[in-house]
Amino acid sequence: MYHTLPQEYREATQDDLAERITAARQRLGERLCILVHHYQRVEVVEFADHMGDSYGLSRIAAGKKDAEIIAFCGVHFMAESADILSGEHQHVYLPNPLAGCPMADMAEMADVLEAWEALRAYGAEERIMPISYMNTAAGLKAFTGRYGGLICTSSNADAALAWGLQRREKVFFFPDENLGYNTAVKFGLSPDEIVTWDFSDQDGGLSPEQIERARIILWKGHCHVHTNFTVEHVEKVRLSHPEAKIVVHPECIPDVVRLADANGSTSFIVKYCQQAPSGSTIAIGTEINLVHRMAQDHPDKNIFELSGDTCPVCANMYRTTMNDLAYTLEHYSDLKPIHVGEPMRSDALIALEKMLEIS
Ligand code: 13P
Ligand code: SF4
Repeated sequence: MYHTLPQEYREATQDDLAERITAARQRLGERLCILVHHYQRVEVVEFADHMGDSYGLSRIAAGKKDAEIIAFCGVHFMAESADILSGEHQHVYLPNPLAGCPMADMAEMADVLEAWEALRAYGAEERIMPISYMNTAAGLKAFTGRYGGLICTSSNADAALAWGLQRREKVFFFPDENLGYNTAVKFGLSPDEIVTWDFSDQDGGLSPEQIERARIILWKGHCHVHTNFTVEHVEKVRLSHPEAKIVVHPECIPDVVRLADANGSTSFIVKYCQQAPSGSTIAIGTEINLVHRMAQDHPDKNIFELSGDTCPVCANMYRTTMNDLAYTLEHYSDLKPIHVGEPMRSDALIALEKMLEIS
């Protein structure tokens, strides 16, 4: 449930908020851990105890047993995963509870269950391995755990798909069609072995022959931030900056990923910028706040956003402000933590732990 920020917090100056956050951190000491995703605003990043991609942050949440208060500056599915992976004595707070993920919302529980029911006609439980991208609600992670599958993120999707294909004939991957496709092509599968289940169509819009032939069944979901990037953007940068390296997130469309010099998770992109020699030119296809921070952190490199004109902002990541963080740290005991109840938690934990094992 969303708390309305009291006027006092809405009107506070940046300096005042910074002082309050700093004082709360000192007061709470080791009891508090602030986890921050790479897409957060630069002023929120300042207060991170740990920064990372969604895989890295889930690892920290699983290992940081001494922190009883985890403030997760990211989006809802990340905080839910942190709650599942952390202990009973720990409480996870999402400083802005409205921060969701439209891609995660593209896989609704009822639609996925309906697809799975239809896939039972093809021997789903014996032949098809469900693999859920981290960007899903806890209920879907639980579904995945219940049917023997695992969770993956953009940094371990290769290992997850290999794991799934070694154990069952087919993989049912949701909700990101692009990450699924970009990973599946690395396994040398032919185009007719990769199909997309369109949940708005009867039987996913697929014929029985298509399903029988498929090795990978992708969900028809996407990230509206990353699908902003087009082949034309890549071509334009190749002409204007022939020296540039292009690095993109694998949630981009396959043609963009194929034409880029490198692709990987947000942590991969951060490392790519760090490791590039001084004087490098790098065009990045991902969320604008991360790109701006990379440009700011590496003034000796020419780093810019790939599209140049579409402003690929994740409005949900952008929701979390210093005002939210200050309020959360000063009022956590009155706020409702993110909580995944049983039996959902245990089933989802099985799928998340499998991810940690294979990565
Ligand atoms: P990462 O796991 O690469 O941080 O990506 C999360 C995400 O939501 C990208 O849009
Ligand atoms: Fe979701 Fe896309 Fe935002 Fe990532 S960038 S949190 S996938 S909407």
